[in-house]
Amino acid sequence: MDTNKPRLLLTRRIPQPGPELLHEVFEVVGGEADEALERAALLERVVGVDAILCLLSETIDAQVMDAAGPCLRVISNMAVGYDNIDVPAATARGIIVTNTPDVLTDATADLAWALILAVARRVLEGDRFVREGHFRAWSPFMLLGRLVAGATLGIVGMGRIGQAVARRALGWNMKVLYVRQRGPLSSQEIPPGADWECCATLEELLARSDIVSLHVPLTDKTRHLIGERELALMKPGAFLINTARGPVIDEAALVRALQEGRLGGAGLDVYEREPELTEGLDELLNVVLLPHLGSATVETRSRMAELAARNAVAAIRGERIPHVVNPEVLPRSGGGGGKPAGTREGNG
Ligand code: GLV
Repeated sequence: MDTNKPRLLLTRRIPQPGPELLHEVFEVVGGEADEALERAALLERVVGVDAILCLLSETIDAQVMDAAGPCLRVISNMAVGYDNIDVPAATARGIIVTNTPDVLTDATADLAWALILAVARRVLEGDRFVREGHFRAWSPFMLLGRLVAGATLGIVGMGRIGQAVARRALGWNMKVLYVRQRGPLSSQEIPPGADWECCATLEELLARSDIVSLHVPLTDKTRHLIGERELALMKPGAFLINTARGPVIDEAALVRALQEGRLGGAGLDVYEREPELTEGLDELLNVVLLPHLGSATVETRSRMAELAARNAVAAIRGERIPHVVNPEVLPRSGGGGGKPAGTREGNG
């Protein structure tokens, strides 16, 4: 083992070319097991490392940073969302935090669409119906869903992923309403032929949309963004899709709205207390539940691993870092001056 190399803790196994790139530059600790690193093991293995490459399955807080010690220079998250990392604590310690936007935009947008279609057209109910031997003959009233073509799609958080979901809606001839923290998109950002309208408020979007899809990051401001009040504002029979972060929805309020038949259904890839489900959620037939698969394609996970590795390598070498979350910790004179990640409006 080359002890002159900087040390990196890889918290769990990641796809190639991630490990290959890391081994060229770092003495890599960990990365063998395909499961989240237990907290105690994380605190033990992190001691003395220069870098951490982690996933959203690990919480990297001040305790972990302090356990690592003063050598820790970079925390590279293999995810676009970084709510698992205490970024202010990292910034206070001068530690660079990086993430992996862009490479998972299409995969996450595709999955949001898989949920939209599955919920509106009752795909899973139909699958179960056939498997359970109930399908005897075609029937004019069997498992009727709602037409997605021509419906109004409301996008909450019109960042990279929100826009990718909206672009796909062009094929369904849909009106797209959106709310965006930074205000309306410029006309150059709207594809030709698209009917996209920026709503002044979330309330307006909820009241006018047939399908609402969430694409905001989890922050103090977006926790429970969709609660009892917001659910009550949605059109009767509307669908709610969440591929962002679970705590953006008050899950107990959502279960109540679904139980009372106020909503048409929900498609969820993420949960408030992941992987735990709020009681009653898995008993509802008009809900499609996925195990956080937003970026789960072979190609995407490989690109995420590569980008996470490149972020860590560039940070440790003082080179330009592809995606930095907290650029304020970088020296002003250029070295390591990656572009800000700008993920305020898009998680996968
Ligand atoms: C996945 O949820 C991610 O943030 O990359």
